[in-house]
This record gives sequence, C-alpha cells and structure tokens, in this order.
Amino acid sequence: MLVDGVPYRTIWPAEDGRTVRIIEQRRLPHEFVVADLASLGDAAVAIRDMAVRGAPLIGATAAWGMALAMAADPSDAGLGAARETLARTRPTAVNLRWALDAMRATLAPLPPGERREAARAKAAEIADEDVAINRAIGDAGLGVLADIARRKSGRPVNVLTHCNAGWLATVDWGTATAPIYRAIEEGIEVHVWVDETRPRNQGAALTAWEMARHGVPHHLIVDNAGGHLMQRGEVDVVIVGTDRTTARGDVANKIGTYLKALAARDNGVPFYVALPSPTIDWTLTDGFAIPIEERDASEVTHVWGRTEAGGGLDRVRVCPEETPAANPAFDVTPARLVTGLITERGVCAATADGLAGLFPDRAVA
Ligand code: MRU
Repeated sequence: MLVDGVPYRTIWPAEDGRTVRIIEQRRLPHEFVVADLASLGDAAVAIRDMAVRGAPLIGATAAWGMALAMAADPSDAGLGAARETLARTRPTAVNLRWALDAMRATLAPLPPGERREAARAKAAEIADEDVAINRAIGDAGLGVLADIARRKSGRPVNVLTHCNAGWLATVDWGTATAPIYRAIEEGIEVHVWVDETRPRNQGAALTAWEMARHGVPHHLIVDNAGGHLMQRGEVDVVIVGTDRTTARGDVANKIGTYLKALAARDNGVPFYVALPSPTIDWTLTDGFAIPIEERDASEVTHVWGRTEAGGGLDRVRVCPEETPAANPAFDVTPARLVTGLITERGVCAATADGLAGLFPDRAVA
C-alpha cells in the first residue's frame, strides 16, 4: 500500500542482504518509522512486543526470523533452536506455527551450507504468497460488498471492523480490509466504523491510520458503540479477521470480537470473517481448545498516546494504583454466529463442510 505516495509492504529484506526491515507499528499513527531486524533475537522480540502483529504478518516475520537465524547458525541445532525461540513468541495465531513448519520442511533436508540462501528464498516466497492470498480474499469479499451496495441502490455500505486486520496485519492488502480496498477500486462507496479495540487500540492507531491514508471514509467508535449502531440500522455488515480458525469454522480473534458477533446476530447483521488458509488450524475442531494469549496487565491499566501539551508520546494510568487487571487478548466466536468465511478460494459457510468444499485436500470429518 502507499504511504505518502511510496509503495510499502510491512516487511521486506534490506538491500544489504543481511537485515530485514519492518514498519515499527508501536509508533503508529503518530510516527512512521522503519526498523531493522538483524538477528533471530530481533525478530522474536519484534513479534513478542508487537512491533509487528496480526496473524499473517506474525507468520511472515517468523519466516524471516528463521532466515536471519540461518545466516548466523545453519546447523541442525541452530535450526531447531530458532524454531523453538520463535514458536514461543505468541500463542494464538496459528500462522506462526504454519510458517515455522514450512521453513523447517524446506530447510531440514538441505545441507547446512545451503540453508542461508534457501531460507531467504523461502521467507520471500511466504511473504509474496501472503500478498497474493490477501488480494484474492479481496476479490472474494468484493461480491459481499457489491451485493449490499446493489441492495442499497449505491448508497454507502457501512462496514464495522474490529482490531486491525488491515494491510499492517499482513504483508500487504490485509484480510478484512482487502474487500474494502477492492470495493473502493471498483467505485463502490464504503464507510467504515472502526472499533478502537482496547486495550492496545489497534483500531484507533492502525486501522484508522490505514483508512485515512487510503482515503476511505470512516469513523472511530468506542468498542461499546457497535451494538447501538447495529440496532439503529447503521451497520450493513461486520468483517473481521482471525488468528486461528478451526476446521469447523470457530474463530479466535481480538478480544471483543465475540460481543460484536452476538450483537450482529441479534440485529440480523451479517458477520463475516476474512482469512487466509494458513490461519486455519486443521488439527482443531473445537474453538475453545485454541490457546488464548494473556498479555501484561499494564496494557489495561495504562493507555499510550501523543500528549496534547508537549506533543511527545507518553503513557498514562487510567485506574487506581492498587487495581489489578486481567488482559485476555483474544476470544472465540463460535461458528454458529459467523455468516460466512471469506477465503482466498471464495466465500463458504463456517462449517466443516463449507471449509472442506473449498479445501478438499485438508478436510476433516
Ligand atoms: O494482537 P494482534 O494485534 O496481533 O491481533 C490481531 C488480530 O486480532 C487480527 O484481527 C488478526 O490477527 C487477523 S489479521 C489479518
């Protein structure tokens, strides 16, 4: 996507052939900073501390982390240790395991002397594949938005989204945002309700930034506003991303997604989940078996932003000193609340049969 007229991906290899560059997402929307990852450790910290985040980008960063590791130690022990280190960074997004497995399958059969180059090539391939997949998700989801636009006789389609499943969460295009970007390309009028997404405010900081950069009409809303807007008929469709989708269509996504799905069901608003197939965990059928990340309480007790006074970036406490906080980072939306899954192979029902129809090679009973 373009940033001030310059095309960017969220992660790319530096020209020096040694380091990897990322957009440092903790500084957005206030500062646009590109950071270097020079080692396995840098990649692991970038994922864990959320300089990069979003399931597909976590996967791509893990792949590049393996490539950085192979440049330092391409031995079997180095390969195993790199995989272990990266696998421990964040628990919920299955793209992490998917990318690490893909890297290991490519690298393990090779002699150590060939692993450095092969790892770079495979990481680049994983990143390119993510871009192509997301573009295809955009084409598949375009039909959903076009149908609504037709029914509304061309009046703007009001989409509500939660967290950031935009291009910043992927290598490019995004998943939930890809149909929006494609619709705008096709001249369909879209307006986006952007959930702020406490505690880390990925909606306020990242989705709103993307929408503004791309000229997409949008309003930022507090997380609690969605139900009210749905009751008033001001939401035509909800589209969110997912960090892990079971083979039967349950989805784990950013905390608060489930409440949007409940409100959507109560108000007859279609609730779609956009996902690349590497986000499907074919080994799981029960969404409640998905590991849910518990993050640091300080993300809840404090908020971060730009001060009005000095213009610097700062953190402020929003609750009493002695108040403890719990911080589950994801929740599970059962498949029965999901209208459809938007994948790179088309839109399907959130059921085992629906997924099997699109991915017959991976189907489970
Ligand atoms: O904690 P985050 O910011 O990594 O959570 C991201 C999300 O919940 C996204 O909706 C999900 O990863 C899908 S991204 C295309």
